[in-house]
Amino acid sequence: MTKCYPTVSEEYQNAVQKAKRKLRALIAEKNCAPLMLRLAWHSAGTFDVKTKTGGPFGTVKQPAELAHAANNGLDIAVRLLEPIKEQFPILSYADFYQLAGVVAVEITGGPEVPFHPGREDKPHPPPEGRLPNATKGADHLRQVFSNQMGLSDQDIVALSGGHTLEGATRRGLDLRDHGLPTLLSSTTLTSRSS
Ligand code: HEM
Repeated sequence: MTKCYPTVSEEYQNAVQKAKRKLRALIAEKNCAPLMLRLAWHSAGTFDVKTKTGGPFGTVKQPAELAHAANNGLDIAVRLLEPIKEQFPILSYADFYQLAGVVAVEITGGPEVPFHPGREDKPHPPPEGRLPNATKGADHLRQVFSNQMGLSDQDIVALSGGHTLEGATRRGLDLRDHGLPTLLSSTTLTSRSS
């Protein structure tokens, strides 16, 4: 199936390129790639494929969504990004936060993630409780990633590679306390789906 992306003006594309350069400088200076990737992911990970609600549409900056327990600390990311965002009023917050995630992956030595602009900002944040909970098991992960987001087991494993950015462990939180290695084990996930 061919994917169909929105089209944006040349002016918009130019703003994306300029914003990307500024994001590289900010993320390098503040050493905040993990935080930016988490912002992009938490913004996208609320998507519900059935109702087409939630998702990476700029709502994560709203106090109501920032107050969700899973988003603890993401107000810092929003605050750090705001001075750059103000320089590019043409860009949607939706695109800008995802771009920050793309730059975070790139700047930490990951692949260049293709970026397709054109997301619009939506007015209403999603309800709390759509992001995966680290204290629950693989069935819960499947519920969130597969049933809610419409992704696959392979997507769970690939996306969870985001945790190779060491921010969480550097701050003293051992993800093994949350059962993540078990959840992320491809054998655990694929043995049940094959
Ligand atoms: C599979 C389900 C997931 C669970 C249960 C989970 C859970 C967690 C938890 C508990 C933390 C620590 C939060 C804190 O520091 O307070 C964390 C951090 C983090 N997560 Fe996830 N996560 C998941 C998926 C992902 C995905 C898909 C990505 C990116 C594509 C991601 C990227 C990150 C990053 C970069 C951090 C470190 C943030 C920082 O140090 O500032 N996570 N995650």
